[in-house]
Amino acid sequence: MPNAAPIIHTSAPETDQAIDRTVPDFPVAQSSDEDNYFQTNTAPQYLDELRKETSEFIRFHQATGKKVVLVTSGGTTVPLENNTVRFIDNFSAGTRGATSAEYFLESGYAVIFLHREFSLLPYSRHYSHTTNCFLDYMAEIDGKIEINPKYSKSMLEIYQKYQHARDQNLLLVLPFTTVNQYLFSLKVISKELHQLQTKALFYLAAAVSDFFLPMSKLPEHKIQAQDHNGGKLVVNLDPVPKFLRRLVDSWAPGAMITSFKLETDENILLKKANQALDRYCHQLVIGNLLQTRKKEIVFVKKEGEHPVVWYRLTDEELANGVEIESLIIPNVIKEHEEWIRLHK
Ligand code: PMT
Repeated sequence: MPNAAPIIHTSAPETDQAIDRTVPDFPVAQSSDEDNYFQTNTAPQYLDELRKETSEFIRFHQATGKKVVLVTSGGTTVPLENNTVRFIDNFSAGTRGATSAEYFLESGYAVIFLHREFSLLPYSRHYSHTTNCFLDYMAEIDGKIEINPKYSKSMLEIYQKYQHARDQNLLLVLPFTTVNQYLFSLKVISKELHQLQTKALFYLAAAVSDFFLPMSKLPEHKIQAQDHNGGKLVVNLDPVPKFLRRLVDSWAPGAMITSFKLETDENILLKKANQALDRYCHQLVIGNLLQTRKKEIVFVKKEGEHPVVWYRLTDEELANGVEIESLIIPNVIKEHEEWIRLHK
């Protein structure tokens, strides 16, 4: 795993933060109040470590002069119990984020990759979640196990890019599992990235849960069927505050912010993308439909000569393994360069 953070693991429950219901530590969360979120939900225990790693990475690249992009990737979970047996998940495999991170690295960016732990990672994505078992990439040659010659040329190319990213300290891999971990991490990373001003780029491809159970309502232990009426479990979730406006206004003003909009109904995609721009006042929304997200996407902006631009792959390109991110990233970078130029 590229520059993995060995100290940070996000999938284990934080048992010592389990709520003792005899001593109510947290007031009931008012989920509509963004500030209240961070007061009424507990920060992950590793947050200081995450801040330290981020800050060192950014300091390093202040010296190299590189632009830094935060790529968020994969889906967040919503635990239904503090010692989590059950949780609600989000569909994303992290393909968009992991693929995009590679194209940013190849275009000279340093990348902070905030991803759902165990979802796809840049470079290893080519081998980790395919239908092949990793052993299928191997072959026995003269009594020794080696890379199967039919894969070795393409694997060498990927390996060299991966090693370059490692050697030059270009990729910081940070994990999340729950939506709470994601939101605390996003805030900390954003505030660190603020130092880079316009040289910082946000590329928010993660599929973030829209609903969650605030800590003040989270049962400590596994929910028991007999505790509920007729064995039914009725889940009453609060809306997750939309933090993008805070990101734009106060966490990292100066940075260029790109968010994604995922819909399944093509008739509302552009409307929803425009609504996001009105609501959060950021620079770029990339719209995609669940069904066609690997083949076509749309850039939506408030200003400029061409506020709506579609990028599409042909069926032939798709069949030949061309990735839509090879169209997305150069065009996001163009927008970022323009952003830097305008704000000099
Ligand atoms: O991983 P893949 O399988 O390749 O799928 C990629 C993708 C379809 C998930 C990706 O391309 C995509 O569209 N991601 C955004 C999904 C979405 O619609 O998220 P949203 O509408 O909940 O949020 C809109 C934007 O705000 C997103 O950029 C999200 O990262 C961000 N957000 C949302 C809520 C929140 N509380 N904080 C956020 O930052």
